[in-house]
This record gives sequence, structure tokens and C-alpha cells, in this order.
Amino acid sequence: MLLSSFIILVGLAAATSSEAVAPKYKSQSLKETNIVFYMHDLSTGHNITAHAIAGVPQSKWWTLGFGTAFACDDKLTGAYHWKSNQIGRAQGIYVNSALDGSDAHLLMSLVFTNKEFNGSTLEIQGADRFYQKYREVSVVSGTG
Ligand SMILES: *[C@@H]1O[C@H](CO)[C@@H](O)[C@H](O)[C@H]1NC(C)=O
Ligand SMILES: *[C@@H]1O[C@H](CO)[C@@H](O)[C@H](O)[C@H]1NC(C)=O
Repeated sequence: MLLSSFIILVGLAAATSSEAVAPKYKSQSLKETNIVFYMHDLSTGHNITAHAIAGVPQSKWWTLGFGTAFACDDKLTGAYHWKSNQIGRAQGIYVNSALDGSDAHLLMSLVFTNKEFNGSTLEIQGADRFYQKYREVSVVSGTG
């Protein structure tokens, strides 16, 4: 996994309640936030941001090896190049979770540090199927 781009569509739904129970929520509406960013996940080379921390005994620990778990602290940028301005970090773990090596299970916090979303986080979790052109991962929660 060298570079992944994510397009996050977050719909924040206001609670819908009956007027009698919670009239103050009535005027709130859905808000959609579109964020495009690039995650630079470097597990080889000089500036490693993802380290193998566990794996199947007597087998090679690598991205495509079933059972290999990585801890990561990856740079998130708003533009494609890794030298572009950082907008946040992707911090967490992923583990190869397919016997044929074709899938990783991601468990990460996207911690935003740019002006617009500073301090906000998104929790992502799900299947990262390496050989699919487009991969979708769930946003399970967030803060800020
Ligand atoms: C690695 O990081 C150092 C210092 O953080 C930086 O000067 C250098 O350009 C980076 N090199 C690569 C190949 O990422
Ligand atoms: C983000 O918040 C931290 C802590 O409140 C602050 O130190 C930092 O300057 C902020 N960064 C930006 C880009 O606003």
C-alpha cells in the first residue's frame, strides 16, 4: 500500500423527532461535507510511516502476507504529491485479512490538523481490497 486517495462524504444527520418531543430540532437539516485527501502509507524506504508489528510465525511479514499487522502514522495531504502540505495524519493499524493476501482490514483515526478541520477526527474501518479499482471503507464515527 503506497498511496491511497480517499474521498469522504459525510452526511451529518440531525435527529428527527416529533415536534411535541423536541421542537428545537425541527429546523435542522442534513449537512454534507466533501473532503478529498491522499494518504501516504510508506512501509519501505527511508521515511517509513507504517511498521509491521506482528505476523504469522515463520512466514514473511509484509503488506501482502496474510496475518501481517501494521501500525501506521501516515501523512494526509490535500494534493497528490507527498511533499504537499499536510492536512492530517492517519493513525492506527491495518492487518492483512485475506488468506490469498488480497485484502487488508483498516482500523484508523484520521486526525485533521489543517485550519479548516483542525482537531476533528474520523474513524474508519473496513475492507481495503487491494485489487479493486475503487475501494470503499466505512466511516464509523467521528469527533469535532
Ligand atoms: C525523509 O525525511 C527527512 C526529514 O524528515 C526529509 O528531509 C527527507 O527528504 C525525507 N526523505 C524521503 C525520501 O522521504
Ligand atoms: C490546531 O490546533 C492546535 C491546538 O489547539 C493549535 O496549536 C494549532 O496551531 C492549530 N493549527 C491550525 C493550523 O490552526
